[in-house]
Amino acid sequence: MVGVKQKEVRIGMIGYQFMGKMHSHAYRDLPFFFDTEARPVLQAVAGRNEAAVKQAAEKMGWASYETDWRRLIERDDIDVIDIVTPNHTHADMAIAAAEAGKHIIIEKPLALTVEQAERMAEAVKRNNVVHMICHNYRFAPAVQYAKKLIQDGVLGRLYHFRGNYLQDFIIDPAFPLVWRLKKEVSGSGALGDIAAHSIDLARFLVGDIHEVVGTMETFIKKRPIGEMVGGLSAKVDSDQMGEVTVDDAVAFLARFENGTVATFEATRFAAGNRNKNTFEINGEKGSIRWDMENMNNLEVYLTEDAPGLQGFRLINCTEDIHPYAGAYWPPGHIIGYEHTFIHLIYEFMKGVTSGESPRPNFEDGVKNQKILAAVETSAQTKQWVTIDY
Ligand SMILES: NC(=O)c1ccc[n+]([C@@H]2O[C@H](COP(=O)([O-])OP(=O)(O)OC[C@H]3O[C@@H](n4cnc5c(N)ncnc54)[C@H](O)[C@@H]3O)[C@@H](O)[C@H]2O)c1
Repeated sequence: MVGVKQKEVRIGMIGYQFMGKMHSHAYRDLPFFFDTEARPVLQAVAGRNEAAVKQAAEKMGWASYETDWRRLIERDDIDVIDIVTPNHTHADMAIAAAEAGKHIIIEKPLALTVEQAERMAEAVKRNNVVHMICHNYRFAPAVQYAKKLIQDGVLGRLYHFRGNYLQDFIIDPAFPLVWRLKKEVSGSGALGDIAAHSIDLARFLVGDIHEVVGTMETFIKKRPIGEMVGGLSAKVDSDQMGEVTVDDAVAFLARFENGTVATFEATRFAAGNRNKNTFEINGEKGSIRWDMENMNNLEVYLTEDAPGLQGFRLINCTEDIHPYAGAYWPPGHIIGYEHTFIHLIYEFMKGVTSGESPRPNFEDGVKNQKILAAVETSAQTKQWVTIDY
């Protein structure tokens, strides 16, 4: 915004590994592509290990660092707390940030339990701070365009939602017991880690889910002790074995409040599928399909097409008409995973300016958490479970 004074929004980020790198990149790239009244400033990053957090701050461009996240939250030169740490830390950090009057951006899932998630949502409401949860896949231009097609009635009444999120990074039994495989740290396995994203896409595109019935499985029950080292890689720390306490895979059926029926599958044991986050929606006038690994494309089938010409058309969502795409390159010059986070941060910065929490926010996080909990209950009881909103 040349000539316009932008408001500086000073970010304090807790955690600095996979998502820490992703968010840091998004803050830095946002002003390069988008005009916003609020400009993020990488003020300080927090981590427990001084040498490591110092190195991360220097590499990613943070002006300072803290070795205690509570000290970061107390600082009066911080406007936003960004939480990119494992799930068991989310509730304490978010509630402390809200009580300190900081706006909050947090990674998914919101918490370990519905009870924690509700306390977090109450805290942001009570303290009137702007809040957002990082379900980034909503912000792919093709997904936003799918939403527009649905809103415009192009598919008519929706019959089916089919959401699959398939990974294979823990298929090797020698992959260590990292935080993602411990219930007390992660809350659940494939369910909260990746099905939560499919649930968010379903809620965004179709509406609220009314009831679910599902099943869960843990294929490898014991693994060597180890830790994440960035991205989805890990290292083994010891030849001692520990117990896996979360699901390796989950599958469930759902019925939406509007009558649409859905199937969901999430697993980290689907060999060959690195990050196969897909959905298909079938409506009375056609279908749409999306696949994260080809995220610029949307497949659209319309029943009104002439006989002989019917078939899925492939739309490369890189034209100015496609949401966010006009901020980048000429049509056909594709964007990637990291751009979904730039769009998310763009919406968050607009929220900080307006005072309105963008979607998805903590209210969406609570609803998502209730669906996760209902799937777990259903897997235990082998019964349909109605979501209690
Ligand atoms: N939106 C997405 O697509 C996406 C992708 C991956 C992870 N996530 C979510 O992001 C969050 C972080 O996951 P990640 O993959 O970046 O994990 P990670 O293991 O790569 O990084 C975790 C970071 O948190 C720090 N940390 C751990 N415990 C801490 C504590 N008690 N106090 C302070 N710092 C602590 C670690 O040092 C590290 O910097 C999780 O909630 C995860 O579910 C979201």
